[in-house]
Amino acid sequence: MSTSAYPPVASHLDDPEDAASEGRRKMDWALQHMPILQSLREEFEAEQPLAGETVGMAMHVEAKTANLVELLALGGAEVAITGCNPLSTHDDVSAALDTHENITSYAVRGVDDEDYYAAIDAVIDHEPTITVDDGMDMIAAIHEDHPDLIDTIVGGCEETTTGVHRLRAMDDDDALEYPVFAVNDTPMKTLFDNVHGTGESSLATIAMTTNLSFAGKNVVVAGYGYCGKGVAKKASGQNANVVVTEVDPRKALEAHMEGYDVKPMEEAAADADLILTTTGNRDVVVDKHFDVMPDGVLLANAGHFDIEIDLVALEEKAVDVYEARDGVEAYELPDGRRLNVLAEGRLVNLAAPIALGHPVEVMDQSFGVQAVCVRELAANGAAYDAGVHDVPDDLDREIAEIKLDAEGVAHDSLSDEQREYLDSWDHGT
Ligand SMILES: NC(=O)c1ccc[n+]([C@@H]2O[C@H](COP(=O)([O-])OP(=O)(O)OC[C@H]3O[C@@H](n4cnc5c(N)ncnc54)[C@H](O)[C@@H]3O)[C@@H](O)[C@H]2O)c1
Repeated sequence: MSTSAYPPVASHLDDPEDAASEGRRKMDWALQHMPILQSLREEFEAEQPLAGETVGMAMHVEAKTANLVELLALGGAEVAITGCNPLSTHDDVSAALDTHENITSYAVRGVDDEDYYAAIDAVIDHEPTITVDDGMDMIAAIHEDHPDLIDTIVGGCEETTTGVHRLRAMDDDDALEYPVFAVNDTPMKTLFDNVHGTGESSLATIAMTTNLSFAGKNVVVAGYGYCGKGVAKKASGQNANVVVTEVDPRKALEAHMEGYDVKPMEEAAADADLILTTTGNRDVVVDKHFDVMPDGVLLANAGHFDIEIDLVALEEKAVDVYEARDGVEAYELPDGRRLNVLAEGRLVNLAAPIALGHPVEVMDQSFGVQAVCVRELAANGAAYDAGVHDVPDDLDREIAEIKLDAEGVAHDSLSDEQREYLDSWDHGT
């Protein structure tokens, strides 16, 4: 039980019961389209692989995540969860989770920084034996403020690129004191979630938030990594003229060879209708870029933190800031130009008022990987040293097989001779 003063979600809502039933409806719809989690539910309910574990989570609390949380609880774990971004929580889903006997949810939409971290502390008060993070805020809080818990933590999982970058930096400093799976980096996650999920959901959210089209527009994609690639491809599929900005020469060349214009941001910004940042880096769109942007430009971010667009500088420049639409703030500059920022520069596909996050099918894969990684930690956590670990290949393949099975897709297998050939070095011409 929690000893924290920070209360679970119900005490933040006017009608938690009503909210919980709406949240449950959203979860049910998502689960119908999550064959991987459905299959793992059967296994987890029957075999109770997480009995005796306490899972502490900081994730985007919406319907798909909620089905992962419930799966872990059905597998025998006690689960405590909060958000990993102040704007991405769906309060009704959080309330639905909190009604479950073995789940406590502290996630509430729109909390300030103090409450955001108080909720993370409340989860940590449950003394997790396994952590599941999206962005690494919980692992950081445990290492900084609750190092006494580390001995009883068997391991953790990290969902996103920025979290894995932070963890690798921590590992390089020998500061990471328990094993963590880099779920983000495994093929069944990154090749689908980062590419297709971010591409589809960011553009869909921007279109719905603004009621504007991409056709014939100049869409500037900052960063041509996994997310940027997905955004560029889907924007191009909607007849946008895609311009890519990059700092890595190989990525810049890759974008060029895909047929996109590649330009420095200063040049790209001058003709942009939309700039969408996907770099995971800070200060990608700054003062000198604001100076050259056309009136009416849309500015949005799909990277994990709200550091890619320098809103402090923009606010200082603006003579007026007003809400142009739900989820759109117009910054009016002294010369009359209006620069429109979506979702406060937070990851747009999860933080905009109408945002739903990635498509369900994509998150079924990501969360299938999360679930089998938690199962692996419960079974074999002691076999992993402190530090960042790749997801074991057999677990990644297990999720692919379940998905292909559900889709009715058959595939070939290696013969013994083929396997032997691929594993040998002595077969030349
Ligand atoms: N919105 C979502 O739902 C969602 C989903 C997955 C990942 N993410 C986040 O999106 C971000 C990107 O993830 P990814 O998997 O694409 O990472 P990635 O490392 O594959 O790609 C990032 C790219 O940005 C480039 N870059 C860095 N600084 C730059 C700059 N100043 N200007 C231009 N390009 C620059 C890098 O060279 C790299 O190619 C991360 O913060 C990640 O956590 C968000």
